[in-house]
Amino acid sequence: MTRKPLIAGNWKMFKTGPEAVDTAVHLAEDCADVTDVDIMIAPAYVCLPLVAAAIAGTRIHLGAQNLHFENQGAFTGEISADMLKTAGVEYVIIGHSERRQYFFETDDTVNKKIKAAAAKGLKPILCVGETDAQREAGNTFLTLDKQVSDGLKGHDPKHLKDLVLAYEPVWAIGTGQTAGPDQVAEVHEYLRNLLETRVSPDTAQSTRILYGGSVKPENIAELMRINDVDGALVGGASLDANTFTNIVKYD
Ligand code: 13P
Repeated sequence: MTRKPLIAGNWKMFKTGPEAVDTAVHLAEDCADVTDVDIMIAPAYVCLPLVAAAIAGTRIHLGAQNLHFENQGAFTGEISADMLKTAGVEYVIIGHSERRQYFFETDDTVNKKIKAAAAKGLKPILCVGETDAQREAGNTFLTLDKQVSDGLKGHDPKHLKDLVLAYEPVWAIGTGQTAGPDQVAEVHEYLRNLLETRVSPDTAQSTRILYGGSVKPENIAELMRINDVDGALVGGASLDANTFTNIVKYD
């Protein structure tokens, strides 16, 4: 099976509505000729409908950075899968390490969010990754196994055909310190095997596994050459349309 690469931009808590629209429009113009890579941007919730309108009919796909697992209810400040879908969202990032670290997300809530997203036809991007301390202690694979296994436990593989997995070592996020090619290759192969044993061989084949953590125009080509790397989840370097375009058009 060939997997079309996905280069995704996580805009985190950056950009107001007008700023997000401006960047999205520039990106859409600069990437109008890109056919071999799926491009996604995930602005803040309030920007989603504005950006959806601005990129309609272009090659840019829209993602959200989070969702709540309930469909509706008294959950002040939360957003449901239906709300995202109606706003024009296609992908949703789930279990980003910043949400695990600062907002107390657990593998259990991640599991429910994946289920809620898949049930509404949103494409979940499940984020996993070890901290510096976990790697130093030799627990990288143990950590990843738990995050993937618990995050996907009990899911029908039929509902995971659009699953995307993002390997983001916590120590590489926003630090300028990218994981080395050998480290990335080792983990991505491990994750592919994990999907096969924990979910299904079909899921292992269809799932795009992205690398994230200080991805830049200078290192994207080397990362994309690594076996089992099917794209990138980009933070800081996705905020500028020119820089992100240079990542999308890696060679
Ligand atoms: P940086 O690219 O800024 O390291 O962020 C990566 C990330 O967290 C994407 O989700």
